[in-house]
Amino acid sequence: MNKETKRIQVPLLDNPYEIVIGDGCLEDVGKELISLGVKNNCKILIISNKEISQHYGNTVIKSIERIGIKPTLFLIEEGEDKKNINTISKIHDAAFNSKLERGSLMIALGGGVIGDMTGFAAATWLRGIGFIQIPTTLLSMVDASVGGKTGVNHPGGKNLIGAFHQPKLVLIDTGTLQTLPEREFRAGMAEVIKYAIIGDKLLFNILENTSKINSLSNVGNNLVSEIIERSVSIKANIVVSDEKESGLRAVLNYGHTFGHVVETLCGYGNFLHGEAVAIGMIAVSELGLLRKSWKPDDSNRQKELILKAGLPTQWPNLDEAKVLRTLQGDKKVKDGNIRFIIPTGIGSVEIFNNITKEEISKCLSKLN
Ligand code: NAD
Ligand code: GLY
Repeated sequence: MNKETKRIQVPLLDNPYEIVIGDGCLEDVGKELISLGVKNNCKILIISNKEISQHYGNTVIKSIERIGIKPTLFLIEEGEDKKNINTISKIHDAAFNSKLERGSLMIALGGGVIGDMTGFAAATWLRGIGFIQIPTTLLSMVDASVGGKTGVNHPGGKNLIGAFHQPKLVLIDTGTLQTLPEREFRAGMAEVIKYAIIGDKLLFNILENTSKINSLSNVGNNLVSEIIERSVSIKANIVVSDEKESGLRAVLNYGHTFGHVVETLCGYGNFLHGEAVAIGMIAVSELGLLRKSWKPDDSNRQKELILKAGLPTQWPNLDEAKVLRTLQGDKKVKDGNIRFIIPTGIGSVEIFNNITKEEISKCLSKLN
């Protein structure tokens, strides 16, 4: 364990916060709370699941107890299919039973599912209380824990119910990745590749020049820390310039428009979110080729990297009418037009609002 930490600022005007990255920093949650000005009469509700809390619950609880607060731990069921309004209701019940007040805090200890739900429960309890993100998957470290998008799925689509609610702190203990299943690590690499494509050519080159990127043991602790730092720095910059996604922030959805279709139509949980994003990046790359926005060579490099990360690339066999209907239900639809983030090179993308149904059909026929 190496207690050296890196601190990245998210200097939002109304809700500035820090992203703390370190190996073993989970032990210092309590100290970080003190730095945030948390007093020992603050009520804290930690949301996690059985598996994650077995590994890390005690460390977090003990660290908070050391500053004189006895937090309550509330466990929710694991899984993307539980990311729904019923689970939010259960978290609200726990908030009620714990007598949370306006100045109380929720802590999300887990992956993106727990982070998104805890954030949304915090956003809606007493019209909004503070919360802290302690992400324990690579995907939630590089993406879900930063930026304040919180919410749950609706049977009609991913994350359709939600709110922007920024955390007060993001605490990333890279040591927690030691227990993360390899498939989940690979899913996180999909979002890392996303960052490389949308805005970090050097990150792309680093990944391309690393012989194996499909597991933590192959990537190594030092490189994984660098990957996390680079990824959250890109995200922090984008979020600061467009917190509520009126423009630029949409680029973070690269691969997600088709990815959400895969998740929705294949059933939540069949493909991991990151796997669906990987397939979505391949799909939208095809739109890029149709529009001649990027070169076949760059598209091949992206595919090679996704394959090297051990991620799926094959578009599932989906009914085209259903695909188009699901795309129309996407949050990114504006005036009936589906918004796509299309690559223009390694390290750059553009937002397109004028992709026609015919182009989507052509793209889908190339994928099947
Ligand atoms: P997840 O939260 O489902 O976690 C994956 C699995 O790993 C779970 O079974 C969990 O119990 C287990 N796990 C987590 N940490 C572990 C650890 N350290 N050791 C052992 N097991 C561990 O999946 P995820 O990929 O973290 O998150 C996916 C979710 O994030 C999706 O719902 C997606 O929509 C959301 N997301 C949100 C944003 C955002 O900006 N809010 C961005 C990207 C993704
Ligand atoms: N993951 C997309 C966003 O945070 O905007």
